[in-house]
Amino acid sequence: MSKQYFFATTAKGVEEVLAAELARLGASEVAAESGGVRFGGGMEAAYRANLWLRTASRVLMPLGEFPCETPEQLYQGVLALEWQKYLTPAKTLAVDCNLRDSALTHSGFVALKTKDAIVDQLRDRFGSRPSVDTKDPDLRVNVRLFRNRCTVSLDFSGTPLDRRGYRLDRHEAPLKENLAAALVELSGWDGSTPLVDPMCGTGTIVIEAAMKALRIPPGLSRKEFGFQRWEGFDGPLWNRILAEARQGMLAELPAPVQGSDISHSAINMAAQNASRAGVLDRIALGRCQLAELEPPPGPGVLILNPPYGKRLGEEEALKPLYKEIGDVLKKPLAGYTAYLFTGNLELAKSVGLKATRRMVLYNGPIECRLLKYEMY
Ligand SMILES: C[S@@+](CC[C@H](N)C(=O)[O-])C[C@H]1O[C@@H](n2cnc3c(N)ncnc32)[C@H](O)[C@@H]1O
Repeated sequence: MSKQYFFATTAKGVEEVLAAELARLGASEVAAESGGVRFGGGMEAAYRANLWLRTASRVLMPLGEFPCETPEQLYQGVLALEWQKYLTPAKTLAVDCNLRDSALTHSGFVALKTKDAIVDQLRDRFGSRPSVDTKDPDLRVNVRLFRNRCTVSLDFSGTPLDRRGYRLDRHEAPLKENLAAALVELSGWDGSTPLVDPMCGTGTIVIEAAMKALRIPPGLSRKEFGFQRWEGFDGPLWNRILAEARQGMLAELPAPVQGSDISHSAINMAAQNASRAGVLDRIALGRCQLAELEPPPGPGVLILNPPYGKRLGEEEALKPLYKEIGDVLKKPLAGYTAYLFTGNLELAKSVGLKATRRMVLYNGPIECRLLKYEMY
């Protein structure tokens, strides 16, 4: 049998961080590409990746790749794959599609054509066809068209991996869980020193940091992964991986993790989210204005994700807040390193300090920066 490869997707700018995570998990032939990381291994590697990857969005299993410039090429390429291995008429399916720099430009059409080829093949074979369920399918198929090359994959994860299941409440512009985890990774924080988020909103950064330091797998509180409904799902292997993960979890954080926010309701939501994530009694959460921040003794890491205003006029109104951030960072915070995540470089100038490192990351379509400030 030829060797199986997988592809873990992530936000642009996070590929190297994800590649490092995969290498630590013991995946083989790890190679970062645009938008994700390719890796090799068997089912066990894919199960582990789904449970453990903090910065990935999905784990895909490519079934086939072919040149594709026309609807007919797409249809024939999908038809050539052996769908009866994965689907029967009794199962439901959904097709997701990502397109870039290709002759076919309508993702809805590409998804529809792919679905047509799959169900036509199965109808020819079984006399009836599986139906489509876009919300909760038994099998999610992913089509990626990039520069007229089409990759058709099975989506191992089902619901994207950033939806850990702990965050139900929404406040002002929450970060996706896997992006928050990427900020923690990019800050270089290893869990052995304090981590502080003084604008924590719904708590995503501190919750992700605490889960990392406590060695809680990010997928532990998920109800289900896509692969658990597949033909041939290896239940005993999965249970062994889960049991191993539970055994390795720590009871206490090695160093404090602290989140605060000016908003009462944000702190309430952060507490509820932290409770669902199983870390509430391990982290410190409280209402506090940035200007009154009192971090634990350093060295440590400070991560700030202030609002960055998408509409005209908001930028002006937010300048004083960015100036206040600068004032806080100019205070003696002995041994702390600060990271500011923002989608607005104009506003970042109001901080009035020179960043020693600038990392480009995407929050959805918004080009953002993670700026590093050393404090003396
Ligand atoms: C973009 S949101 C942070 C989102 C957060 N990372 C999350 O995932 O939910 C910015 C937060 O800064 C808070 N904030 C604004 N001004 C503040 C201030 N002066 N002091 C502390 N927090 C402030 C807001 O209440 C808001 O929750």
